[in-house]
Amino acid sequence: MISINPTNIFPFLSGRLIEQQATRVDAAHQLLTTGTGPGNDFIGWLNPAAVAPESLIDEIVATAEHLHSLADKMVVVGIGGSYLGTRAVVDALSTNPNTITYAGQNVSAAYHANLLGELDNQDYVVNVVSKSGTTTEPAVAFRVILNHLNAKYPAGASDRVVATTDKNKGALRQLATQNGYKTFPIEDAIGGRYSVLSPVGLLPIAFAGVDIHALVRGAADMYALSETGDISSNPVLWYVATRNLLMLKGINIEVLASFEPRLHYLLEWWKQLFGESEGKNGIGLFPASVEYTTDLHSMGQYMQDGRRIVMETFLRVESGEPTLLVPDGNPIDELAYLVGRGLTDVNEAAWKATAAAHANGGVPNLTLNIPKLDAYHLGGLIYFFERACGISGYLMGVNPFDQPGVEDYKRGMFSLLGKPGASQSDDSRPEATHIQFG
Ligand code: PA5
Repeated sequence: MISINPTNIFPFLSGRLIEQQATRVDAAHQLLTTGTGPGNDFIGWLNPAAVAPESLIDEIVATAEHLHSLADKMVVVGIGGSYLGTRAVVDALSTNPNTITYAGQNVSAAYHANLLGELDNQDYVVNVVSKSGTTTEPAVAFRVILNHLNAKYPAGASDRVVATTDKNKGALRQLATQNGYKTFPIEDAIGGRYSVLSPVGLLPIAFAGVDIHALVRGAADMYALSETGDISSNPVLWYVATRNLLMLKGINIEVLASFEPRLHYLLEWWKQLFGESEGKNGIGLFPASVEYTTDLHSMGQYMQDGRRIVMETFLRVESGEPTLLVPDGNPIDELAYLVGRGLTDVNEAAWKATAAAHANGGVPNLTLNIPKLDAYHLGGLIYFFERACGISGYLMGVNPFDQPGVEDYKRGMFSLLGKPGASQSDDSRPEATHIQFG
């Protein structure tokens, strides 16, 4: 269900050196599987079939069908782990990704005003997703959307809202109880960025027409494949060992590269997963992304020739793309050699050439291959990264399941906005002054 092409790693790290990490990596792996590492109260995502048993999936599908009987558009209100995974899967797989629109992933007035304008003219339902129920961006956006919803549907607005939130506590849970919203619980032991394969992601993904049974099945099969502590048969351990060794050799940045625009939000989701999980105590590989071949005409130069602090992980889909051939045409464009060849062949050649060129330029790189871009294989890939991230955090000596750094900006923002009870900012720097030019 996944394979790794290591050709362009071996000039930088020998296969033997990677396999010699087996004990060290498996020790980190054991911390995760035995629940003995830091943050062990947040490993509820580990077994996908237990998180989303068939009965829950059936209930989610039935809810999605009921919501579709009310509207063909869903507004997902959420931020960070409460929205990125949804968007990753919907954009990659839905035949109509515009079925879902997003709110509360920013607090831009222009964005939300534009969204309300669009919603004036269409029927919609809302899935508000917030584990804490108190995150400012989605809470503000939900008020804005609810205001619109109440005005548009004076009778029955509450029937159009599903809240995905903590089982017992939080403002959103209280609001849901008060207004009689249908709800799905987010388990205590599942943090935002590891939650896409729970009701957080599964409801909107099902609404967008993606087969969530297959998505969870793919994750469950990857779980089974990655249970072993044997690095030579566990692709997760191999990936973790390789990127860790490269970090120890001075690599600071991992760039995830794809040749498929539909994977844009998968790259965004991956950056959040690894950025929030590893980036603490002055450690972690900085997660970045590029989208080729578009970015070969922008970031390609840096990748080939800039500071040698970068490793690259290519995501490659082996087959299943639509066949679109280069047609015959005017010879002036000198493309006769491509006539009758598929665009997929051209993209494949671009991947091969880029991976080789970057290795020659001093960028160690590996390719993760999935046979097909469908729900089953995407579920497997999502789980592959989640598990790799948990193990990798432990290998780096950090808690991969907390995000203390995210709180710092919030303190300052609450203080500036005058939130009752917010501590006054202890920023002793003088008030920022503007340097006016022109
Ligand atoms: O991964 C995380 O934990 C975060 O990105 C959260 O998902 C994000 O901050 C949103 O939190 P909440 O679901 O509580 O609104």
